[in-house]
Amino acid sequence: MLSFAIGVAHQAGRLLKQYYTSDLDIRTKSTDRDLVTQADLDAEKIIISAIKETFPTHAILAEEKGQIGHADYLWLIDPLDGTTNFAHGHPVFCTSIGLAYQGEMCVAVILDPIRNELFAAEKGKGASLNEKPIMVSDTKTLNNAVVATGFPYDRATNPHNNLKEFGQIMPLVQGIRRCGSAALDMAYVASGRLDGYWEYHIKPWDVGAGALMVKEAGGRVTSIDNSPWRLDSSALVAGNPNIHHQILENIR
Ligand code: IPD
Ligand code: CA
Ligand code: CA
Repeated sequence: MLSFAIGVAHQAGRLLKQYYTSDLDIRTKSTDRDLVTQADLDAEKIIISAIKETFPTHAILAEEKGQIGHADYLWLIDPLDGTTNFAHGHPVFCTSIGLAYQGEMCVAVILDPIRNELFAAEKGKGASLNEKPIMVSDTKTLNNAVVATGFPYDRATNPHNNLKEFGQIMPLVQGIRRCGSAALDMAYVASGRLDGYWEYHIKPWDVGAGALMVKEAGGRVTSIDNSPWRLDSSALVAGNPNIHHQILENIR
């Protein structure tokens, strides 16, 4: 299943790269900040039809298409994570494919087609970047940490838009980033490029694959009440164990 996910992520990645350099038809979804392009839709179609063909009994939860079927195995698909970046020609986006078995993540693939970086993880078998093992950082304090976060699309009207928490963390850290791709944020925590990450109102297709990756790389991934992150958690805090704890303490 991991090699299947890697193969199909590469197919989607090739398509995203083709669209990236062409004229894009950009539409909006829930708010006028929530974008979708033909690239999101076509990449998702490729992934869904490959799953249906290879694993016809499995269920799928895909960002654009929604839930397809119910089964012990559930594929979580974000065909293009970082659509706002993509639509602006900002080269920070990826394809994220995760697989859960009975609610537990077991396979994860995050592909950055621009940098040719393939992050992968399998439950109990560790995480890798282009086939080399990765680990979370060992940064001990927020003072020495670079962390990332994100803000919801309805941030203009939603009072719980993360600005307060952003303001609390900002003075405490060495740097804070808003990369615009939750899946890459998680892959970067797993590989030690970021020390921690948090976000509210986040969906399982954004962070499901990344959650397994961070755990397999030795990090912690919880909801805001410090309980283990689950597919139905709406908030997520991830990091190396020290930084995870300190982000949680400061935003709670
Ligand atoms: C978004 C990105 C962004 C995060 C948003 C997500 P999309 O996904 O991951 O970084 O802050 O919450 O919805 O819309 O680009 O697939
Ligand atoms: Ca996403
Ligand atoms: Ca998306």
